[in-house]
Amino acid sequence: MYIDTHCHIIPSEYDNLTDVINALENNIAIVSGDSDSTNKEVIDVISKYPNLYGTIGIHPNEIDNDIDQSLKYIETNLSNPKIVGIGEIGLDYHYGKDDAKLQKDIFIKQLELARKYNMPVTIHSRDAALDTYEIIKNYRDLKITYHCYSYSVEMSEILLKLNIKFGIGGVLTFKNSKTIKDVVKKIPLGNILLETDSPYLAPVPYRGKKNMPSYVVYVAKKIAEIKNISYEEVLKVTTYNAIKQFDLNV
Ligand code: NI
Repeated sequence: MYIDTHCHIIPSEYDNLTDVINALENNIAIVSGDSDSTNKEVIDVISKYPNLYGTIGIHPNEIDNDIDQSLKYIETNLSNPKIVGIGEIGLDYHYGKDDAKLQKDIFIKQLELARKYNMPVTIHSRDAALDTYEIIKNYRDLKITYHCYSYSVEMSEILLKLNIKFGIGGVLTFKNSKTIKDVVKKIPLGNILLETDSPYLAPVPYRGKKNMPSYVVYVAKKIAEIKNISYEEVLKVTTYNAIKQFDLNV
């Protein structure tokens, strides 16, 4: 069994959503929202399939609506037993830092929500390694996952001290992605979660195509190869990690 801990398998992303979900068979996926509209789609889709769970949150590049309204919606829906975390939330300076203060403010508000309701969080952090760290080091009490971890080996060592979990996806299988391979080699398997970020970042041999959660097996195989352990061991441990991290009732 495997668990894809981060994907966006919602109607607005797929014409063939039923096929994508059926390809999961009895495995599990955690579907993430990142805006008002996708949070609603997540809640809708996870209600229809027993093996789908969800996280809801406002992504740093999606802060344009009435944020208080958005946060209220998130808070109200945290009582849904299939909502297992807040995310994806975080900081993204890829398109500039003009709104850095606002991004931090919204990020912190959602971390406070997570603390209030004792929920795990899934973090999106791009080109913002230090600012993200400066914030999350104040939230050691939370269960935190860096989805699609993309920073240095040095940063991964710092984050390990906070017992952060690292979401590892298709990028690991790309030919030129050396840093993430070094990170995976270095961090314990106990801190790794499998993810796809579907429909984005499909692993080799599907690179460039539309990703789906069942492709997460290619990520698991790559981890096994890099760590020189069996594929079965990777599935077993990462599945256990995901169940613990998101308190899944399976
Ligand atoms: Ni994502």
